[in-house]
Amino acid sequence: MTERSDLLRQIRDELIAATDAPLYAYRTANGYYPVAGMGNHYAKIMFVGEAPGENEAKQGRPFVGAAGRFLDELLNSIQLKREDVYITNIVKDRPPDNRDPSREEIAYYAPFLIRQINIIQPQVIATLGRFSMTWLLTRYNSPYQTKKISELHGKVIPLDVDYGQISLVALYHPAQALYKAADRPIHLADFKALEAFK
Ligand code: URA
Repeated sequence: MTERSDLLRQIRDELIAATDAPLYAYRTANGYYPVAGMGNHYAKIMFVGEAPGENEAKQGRPFVGAAGRFLDELLNSIQLKREDVYITNIVKDRPPDNRDPSREEIAYYAPFLIRQINIIQPQVIATLGRFSMTWLLTRYNSPYQTKKISELHGKVIPLDVDYGQISLVALYHPAQALYKAADRPIHLADFKALEAFK
């Protein structure tokens, strides 16, 4: 096993054993798994979504439901496969009833995300939705931290992380297109910003 695999496995094991996690009781009462992340440990592009949904929590894998199918379509549109990228979320357990993650939940799970970023060292972090976008821009002290996703989507934003300067590409959450199919072309156009990083 490579060192990266060991370190990422350690994060998954810690999440499984995290009895102090705010969603631990809900997870175990429902027979769910934490969703650590999945994909290429040497990926140039890391996707960071919001939180697992029910399908994800049942399988312990990110984006396996309807939003995930659209994410696959978006990846295919720029000739990328899941195996090329790493996909994770800011919150690692499913919030009840697919509600928005709370401030407390984000604060608890985000340090696991920072460790994943520092292990994989992607050149670009593609945020899916406003929660991971705003949290990462704030964590890395970006001047864009107060901007809305409607202003930043599809843009390449410099981000000074622990291992150097990388880029953040802000994307709408793919589930948004499930509610509003007319917005699919916006998602497809925004994804083009990632082509330079393949
Ligand atoms: N939505 C997310 O934000 N993450 C998933 O893993 C699935 C749906």
